[in-house]
Amino acid sequence: MMRTQVVGTLRAEDVGKHVALCGWVAARRDHGGVVFLDLRDASGIVQIVADPSQVGEAVHRVGREWVLRIEGDVRARPEGTVNSDLPTGAVEVSADTLEVLNEAEPPPFPLAERADDVDEVLRLRYRYLDLRRPHMQRNLRLRATVNAALRNSMAGQGFVEIETPMLIASTPEGARDFVVPSRLQPGAFYALPQSPQLFKQLLMVGGLDKYFQIARCLRDEDLRADRQFEFMQYDAEMSFADQEDVMAVVTEAVGAAIEATTGSRPGEVPRMTWHEAMERFGSDKPDIRFGMELVDLGAVFAETEFRAFQADAVKGICVSGLGEVSRSTVDNLVDRAKLLGAAGLVWMRVKEGGGLDAPILKFLSEKEQRGIVDVLGAQPGDLVLIVAGERRMANHVLGILRLDLGRPPVNEGGLQLLWVVDFPLFEGLDADRRPIPAHHPFTMPHPEDLELLDSSSGEDLLAVRSQAYDLVLNGWELGSGSVRIHSPAVQQKIFSFLGIEPEEAQARFGFLLDAFRFGAPPHAGFAFGIDRLTALLAGEENIREVIAFPKTQKGADPLTGAPSPLDPPQLTELGLTVKPRPAPKS
Ligand code: AMO
Repeated sequence: MMRTQVVGTLRAEDVGKHVALCGWVAARRDHGGVVFLDLRDASGIVQIVADPSQVGEAVHRVGREWVLRIEGDVRARPEGTVNSDLPTGAVEVSADTLEVLNEAEPPPFPLAERADDVDEVLRLRYRYLDLRRPHMQRNLRLRATVNAALRNSMAGQGFVEIETPMLIASTPEGARDFVVPSRLQPGAFYALPQSPQLFKQLLMVGGLDKYFQIARCLRDEDLRADRQFEFMQYDAEMSFADQEDVMAVVTEAVGAAIEATTGSRPGEVPRMTWHEAMERFGSDKPDIRFGMELVDLGAVFAETEFRAFQADAVKGICVSGLGEVSRSTVDNLVDRAKLLGAAGLVWMRVKEGGGLDAPILKFLSEKEQRGIVDVLGAQPGDLVLIVAGERRMANHVLGILRLDLGRPPVNEGGLQLLWVVDFPLFEGLDADRRPIPAHHPFTMPHPEDLELLDSSSGEDLLAVRSQAYDLVLNGWELGSGSVRIHSPAVQQKIFSFLGIEPEEAQARFGFLLDAFRFGAPPHAGFAFGIDRLTALLAGEENIREVIAFPKTQKGADPLTGAPSPLDPPQLTELGLTVKPRPAPKS
């Protein structure tokens, strides 16, 4: 037997036991007469006391990350040496044999709990060492718990787990595709799935009724803290179901994952319409862990003589306790607001006694000044920020300033889930005044708004609601879903709105339109990012911390060297020629 147990479970009750342990040397303290080793395995760390006269002089050579097998007796640590920071800190193992299973070169960076100041490329170049750190071990185990809880929950709710293909035609999720050249059909390419969207809809036509998958998705988009090229989705679709049915299933599954990892279930998940989210938080993914909500000051300035406030919207936020901040900080906020699209940012300090102090005060009436303080509930010592102009812009700018100034760190304020419903079907109009879809083009418009689709006014089109819903966690978009169009006629109409001609629609999605002609059931579904859920559960700011082998910010894998050029024979076999990149214009 290699080992009798793992090291991390040793406790005072084990004193007197003879054990065999295996692991890596996390630290070594050589006191000459006796050598102390911290032995680490997947379960934790325990202190080994090795007497060279007992285990051999070779113990003096043992270095960090050497792989050892040790036999010995568990004993209580002498008084005054108990380490209360370590779960095994009440005991130590007095070694009687020490076997070197493998030597190790010194690791290129310390394998401490956190690696915040280690260069990211170095960490990923030696990811297998990085993974030995307790915090990465915990994160990956947490991820496995999330996956298991999701699978159990979905099986318990009667869903069938089905794998969909990786080599497909393009999926319309809005990002660039990763493509794979076909050897058998030179010049033709597969796309890797941005999501299983089209296949899950086909599964509904295929009568599978309730599908789910823990699905690998690929999108060639700019990487950020919450985005990787490759990521995992919890993906589900249901037939003869509406928005409420889908939201209930997803709430149950997410609740099960949260309970499995934190020990308690979230309470009822609140809901907000997209419109309310934009007005109150300036975002379609509001972080409701803190207040500082956007307040409409339209009524206060209904008759104002101040030109800048005679606008489509005048919105404000009140930043608690920031009234004393320096002029340069305020100037930075003004610059930031302008960069985000505002014509300007009006700021005011609230004085003792409730009066205001601001450069533009002379343009405002007494009544308007009192109105600002009352409507915002501003207190002495607060800073008031106001943006006037086009309503979407004002909400957007203040929504970002609110996050800049108030957002708690990711691991504070608990887990605040929120359903955002009634998304608009179109998020704006492009330069040709053609509507830009807010979700993929298979999303069903709200039945009450179908008539607006026949209007020629851009405003009317932007007012069309869709049966689309998002789940938000602590201000991150966790996932989104919708009721799907199952009628070929409505689908054709939406395609034509989006400027997708019938021939193009047939070429790209003809197989789905064909399927809809053979009795497609009404259906609806959802997908959320498992990397994002796990990161938030682990209290991590970046999803890389919960992925075993992620890519760097630049999309590279420093460990394997991907992406890398293909050999000329491989290119020939695939019928490909690589053109040299044109030199960048000076
Ligand atoms: P959507 O495109 O909103 O919807 O994606 C759903 C969720 O997937 C996660 N996600 C990502 N996570 C990490 N890195 C990325 N690059 C990335 N892109 C997306 C997010 C996101 O909310 N087929 C639809 C769902 C449906 O309608 O059923 C879809 O994929 O958490």
